Amino acid sequence: MTNYRIGVIGLGQRIAHVLAAMQEVGWALDVTGYVDPAPVGAPILAAAGIGAGRAFADPAALLADGPYDLLMLGAPNHLHLQHLLLALESGIPTFAEKPIVRTEAETEALAGRLAERGAPPLYIGLVMRSLPIVRDTIARLKSGELGELVSIDATEHLPPEHGGYLARNWRRRREWGGSYLLDKVVHDFDIFGVLAGARAARVASFGGRRIFTPDRTDPPRTYEDGSVAYDLRDAGWSGAADAFASDMDVTDHQVAMVEYANQVRLSFHANSHTALTERRWYVAGTEGTLIADLARNKLMVRKALFRGKPERIDYGGVTADAHNGADQEMAKDLLAALEGGAAFPVTPYESMEAGLTVMAIDQAMDQRQVVECGPMWARYDTARSGAEQGVG
Ligand SMILES: NC(=O)c1ccc[n+]([C@@H]2O[C@H](COP(=O)([O-])OP(=O)(O)OC[C@H]3O[C@@H](n4cnc5c(N)ncnc54)[C@H](O)[C@@H]3O)[C@@H](O)[C@H]2O)c1
Repeated sequence: MTNYRIGVIGLGQRIAHVLAAMQEVGWALDVTGYVDPAPVGAPILAAAGIGAGRAFADPAALLADGPYDLLMLGAPNHLHLQHLLLALESGIPTFAEKPIVRTEAETEALAGRLAERGAPPLYIGLVMRSLPIVRDTIARLKSGELGELVSIDATEHLPPEHGGYLARNWRRRREWGGSYLLDKVVHDFDIFGVLAGARAARVASFGGRRIFTPDRTDPPRTYEDGSVAYDLRDAGWSGAADAFASDMDVTDHQVAMVEYANQVRLSFHANSHTALTERRWYVAGTEGTLIADLARNKLMVRKALFRGKPERIDYGGVTADAHNGADQEMAKDLLAALEGGAAFPVTPYESMEAGLTVMAIDQAMDQRQVVECGPMWARYDTARSGAEQGVG
């Protein structure tokens, strides 16, 4: 096996965790250099016994020090496009974190670049794709076991400390993160697109900030045992000191509805400060129903016309980071893709389409209107085909 020489741009918590998972599943790797003004992930990497290599002032200097077998991109979301364009020019296989890019214009620019000329392999960290429970959910639906998919109800409800982190970290600003849903649940909307087997045709959404706001008078800040609720993790790059008094401009709770082009219908509810955490997909087909409980890593399935007990599968391996072993599974998928040319579970195009779906949802929320997605897909398809924007 190759000893992978890796260059990192954006050595944050995420890339450090992914590198640790790669090492855990047997990668031979050597991080030879990184670009990051203040690498938040350095202690995580050190704890995993992985060196960070040499610090470079900018991506050009890092790339000039090659060759690399893999680039890993993990900076805040507003930097993804510029780092992706550099990585594509370098010709080096690249792992890049989700959301692939942050806006519709950036999506079109990336799609256009991919259409224009050759690109090295690009693997996007939509890590849920690698989870066994997610793979089984997709496989069971696609096998026809549930009949035709009719509707989906889904949630993601975070504990207070996670919401507090989002309210202090760079994700609190649209200019950096995109939006609450784009940063946090683009994973889920990627899988919903796979389950639906169609693109979103129209979307609606409502959301706002009612939890992490300075308007709340003296909200409680400790648990009943006196432990702090909101300041557990370093807020990192451009972090804010106080979850309730920052310059946050993304939502802290949001609901959305999607009608897919094939009439599959979906409702989604996200809240960043809950006492009963949940990440759950309720998938209803004409002949059966499936509940994927992603928080507890359990699947439940039953035929519609069956009165016996539902089939229950417990995948186990629930971890404190709520990833439940997904990072290790993705690390194996990445190695299989690089070593043997196996298909990585998600393509850059699917990643862009998941992002666009969430962007349309946020647009619907901003405009308080149902958004017809057709024009957005037409612009994207034009960019993807390499045709001039605005022509034809
Ligand atoms: N797939 C997942 O499950 C998952 C989970 C968490 C984060 N992410 C994604 O990973 C990315 C990073 O998130 P994170 O949680 O690690 O954030 P983080 O704040 O821990 O790390 C971001 C890092 O980028 C660095 N940075 C800032 N400006 C930079 C620049 N100009 N050049 C290079 N580095 C720069 C920061 O100093 C910081 O070290 C985001 O895109 C996020 O959406 C994915």
